[in-house]
Amino acid sequence: MDFTLDTFSGLVENALASLEYPSVAPRLFDPIRYTLESGGKRIRPVLAVAVYSALAKADPADALNQAVAIELFHNFTLLHDDVMDRADIRRGRPTVHRKWNDNVAILSGDAMLTMATQQLTRGAGDRLADLLECFNTTAMEVYEGQQLDMEFENRDDVTIDEYLLMIGLKTSVLLGCACRLGAIMARADKAAADAFYRYGYSLGMAFQLRDDWLDTFGDPAVFGKEIGGDIVNHKKTWLLISARNAEPEDLPAILAEDLEPQETIAQVKALYERHHLGDLCQELALKYSAEAKMNLDNIDMDVEARLFFAGLADRASTRTH
Ligand code: IPE
Ligand code: IPE
Ligand code: MG
Ligand code: MG
Ligand code: MG
Repeated sequence: MDFTLDTFSGLVENALASLEYPSVAPRLFDPIRYTLESGGKRIRPVLAVAVYSALAKADPADALNQAVAIELFHNFTLLHDDVMDRADIRRGRPTVHRKWNDNVAILSGDAMLTMATQQLTRGAGDRLADLLECFNTTAMEVYEGQQLDMEFENRDDVTIDEYLLMIGLKTSVLLGCACRLGAIMARADKAAADAFYRYGYSLGMAFQLRDDWLDTFGDPAVFGKEIGGDIVNHKKTWLLISARNAEPEDLPAILAEDLEPQETIAQVKALYERHHLGDLCQELALKYSAEAKMNLDNIDMDVEARLFFAGLADRASTRTH
């Protein structure tokens, strides 16, 4: 077994490309094809098949249905998230609600969620109850995280701890769940499944901190999303909360002013830079990557697998897209 990103993502890409769609209302599925064809890093399904491979020492294709399920779920959340976040660009292309409209993004998103649960059950056998338990618990947590994310837009007293709780729910649990689905398919013992879940969760924390960093400091051509959307939407990121803590007068004043979006972004970014908040945010992301890797110590696996998972944890906090 070749333990590389290309091997796993190649498998996932093929499986996504061979999905079959019902035919009565084909336009329901055009935005789904559009979304799945537009790329994406496939980190969640890669985790699912890689964990399965590492623990079962068997063909990763055995866990491919569950890997596809988690990617479909992720893409469903993106369709709705882009409506909620008023985002115009994803993966370098217009978002579904911009290319079509909000109704299309809502309904195609719903269809993707159902495709995800259909896929989750395939080949599950007697593991179905455990898979569903993990998937449904996680899905509900993601919605709670998204709810907090939205509520925080309208609050200016959000703490760093509340932020960490919110990103844990909206993002990290899904990476943990991806790992656990692989472990369940491998019939791993509870200790290994829990350790991989914690690995995925910490990796997810690093991943979201880096996402928030990229939203201000990323290169738009590489990142594939608009820069500054979080600032314009008053998203309570680690950066924004820390800026408010550093300059309790200035930050609210900038956000309250009726400036052009680009001007707001420039002024807030300057404030971040004055306090070196980009570097500090990055330090925290690296800390979570290190925490993710520590969980690998207690899992029995081959050295190639261990290196692969360590590399993914590093990438979560250093990625450029
Ligand atoms: C975007 O996830 C949502 C976040 C949790 C930051 P990804 O960065 O994994 O998006 P794709 O699938 O690679 O486009
Ligand atoms: C990601 O949060 C969380 C979910 C989509 C569930 P963001 O809103 O930061 O993700 P992007 O930046 O739009 O990909
Ligand atoms: Mg969002
Ligand atoms: Mg968003
Ligand atoms: Mg983001």
